[in-house]
Amino acid sequence: MGLKKGRENPLAHVESPQRNAAGLAAPSWNSAGSRNLPASVGFRDSYYKVETSLPFIALTFDDGPHPLNTPRLLDILKKRNIKATFYVVATNARAYPEIMRRIIAEGHEIGNHTVTHSNLTTMSAAGVRKELIDAHESIVATTGVAPRTMRPPYGAITSAQKKWIREEFGYPSILWSVDPEDWKKPGSSVVTSRLVRGASPGGILLVHDIHAPSIDAIPSAVDQILARGYQFVTVTQLLATDGKG
Ligand code: NI
Repeated sequence: MGLKKGRENPLAHVESPQRNAAGLAAPSWNSAGSRNLPASVGFRDSYYKVETSLPFIALTFDDGPHPLNTPRLLDILKKRNIKATFYVVATNARAYPEIMRRIIAEGHEIGNHTVTHSNLTTMSAAGVRKELIDAHESIVATTGVAPRTMRPPYGAITSAQKKWIREEFGYPSILWSVDPEDWKKPGSSVVTSRLVRGASPGGILLVHDIHAPSIDAIPSAVDQILARGYQFVTVTQLLATDGKG
């Protein structure tokens, strides 16, 4: 897709960022330029968030695509021109290739979340490698776009695994800074308030787009986070801000 892959650094001139009403540093470009923000896979083996005071935040959705909930989510995001990152499970990617293509066509990013959604810490290196290769190839086969980051199922991954996965695949392992535990079905308003309360510059929000109540939580959550002055970016866009501003 059209993300800039050059080495130039448009963030370099953001030395004295303006502060907006929420007291957050304002980016020097508007949200309409989101798609042209620089992208990066960062320089660390894994990320829970990135170090920045700029008001960028990443919304990530795991375990889909889901035939009903993911399209409904995409409508919500499209209406607000928000770009997100989808950590898809390859079995679902293969089952719903048209939704995969819609995710990409609408400017979102797709990451590798394995094929069988197993705990990688219990698997051999060969087993982990097969999971990641097969999922990578399924994503490329359905969308034509290679994933650039991975998320380990359950967030379970060892330091050694992070290191060799980074070396072999180029993937940083993407964890999260906010987990509203939406999979426990605490109710949409609880998920909303946990996401809003947890929002911080450089943060990574975890949601599952396979659960209908999680989708119900999104409009209010994103509207409140936007009202606080944040801009939603994809994970590789967020990684490009690491250590900047
Ligand atoms: Ni998952």
